[in-house]
Amino acid sequence: MPDPYAQTIAEAPDTPFDISLRPPAFSEFAGQEKVREQLLVMVEAARQRGDVLEHILLSGPPGLGKTTLAHILSHAMGVNIKCTSGPTIEKAGDLAGLLTGLERGDILFIDEIHALSRIIEEYLYPAMEDYKLDIIIDQGPNARSVRLNLPRFTLIAATTRAGMITAPLRSRFGMTCRLDYYTADELQKIILRSAGLISAEIDAGGALEIAGRSRGTPRVANNLLRWVRDYAQVRAGNHINREVADAALTMRDIDRDGLDEMDKRILEALVQKFEGGPVGVSSLAVAVGEDAGTLEDVNEPYLIMQGYLKRTSQGRVAMPLAYKKLGIAAPKRDGELFG
Ligand SMILES: Nc1ncnc2c1ncn2[C@@H]1O[C@H](COP(=O)(O)OP(=O)(O)OP(=O)(O)O)[C@@H](O)[C@H]1O
Ligand SMILES: [Mg+2]
Repeated sequence: MPDPYAQTIAEAPDTPFDISLRPPAFSEFAGQEKVREQLLVMVEAARQRGDVLEHILLSGPPGLGKTTLAHILSHAMGVNIKCTSGPTIEKAGDLAGLLTGLERGDILFIDEIHALSRIIEEYLYPAMEDYKLDIIIDQGPNARSVRLNLPRFTLIAATTRAGMITAPLRSRFGMTCRLDYYTADELQKIILRSAGLISAEIDAGGALEIAGRSRGTPRVANNLLRWVRDYAQVRAGNHINREVADAALTMRDIDRDGLDEMDKRILEALVQKFEGGPVGVSSLAVAVGEDAGTLEDVNEPYLIMQGYLKRTSQGRVAMPLAYKKLGIAAPKRDGELFG
């Protein structure tokens, strides 16, 4: 049985729970001020001109609101949105099917665009630039190229791996937005809003406690809130305050800094098995029994941002904070004292 509250849910598909908590409009979307402002200006300008929104690329770690923003944009523009993801578009015909079904102004949302095959990517270029798609129909001597004229549409693409997007694809987006981890204050607002939606009784202190342990990620915050609500219902008379949130999260082995079991396993492996590194991500992944991609997309960005580890050209290296977290004295390196 998978643990429904597992933190790796940060990369799980959207559940009905996620969707029900998804803010429908910019006014309810907390944080990411800069990105929000930029998108608001784009929407306003396009609406004033009766124009179609430019293509937008959204990047950032899982659970920060990329899919949410795509839906908000479709509401704000008053257009339809069709959602798909990179790995599911296998043939040119799949792409043709998606694109020809659109009306002027509609949004095609492609999640995980970095996983799009190179061949499909080539088809996408003229579609994005000239709203044309040249596809080959039939095979052998009957094969011929047919040009499809597409309505003017908006491509909104999301990726957790901005580095894997090719330069030609990147250059075809009118706007590229990078989402960053949220501050505890922003997450506190999100938690209070979500608590209202699921009728959980929570005070500001309780919300802040969950916020501080949510790894800067709204999806994690919502999932932790769901757990704390369950805990409060069974053990604390349905009221969530700081103490209750703390007890509930401690029970789930989520520490004060938001690190969970997997994060601690990664740091332990790095420090103890690999003597602090440098070690390649695939070896590290095997050592902790996790998939290398998940490690790179889900756990590492937060550990790096918080200063527990560092990516170098030789591999991952433990930082002084990692030793501190594990309560181990940091070794001396290159004459410099760590710790
Ligand atoms: N700024 C925000 N304000 C309130 N809730 C948010 C915000 N951003 C995200 N959320 C909540 O977090 C959940 C996850 O967001 P979303 O699905 O948009 O993330 P994502 O970036 O698309 O993640 P992935 O890369 O895994 O697809 C949403 O269901 C939504 O409830
Ligand atoms: Mg998403």
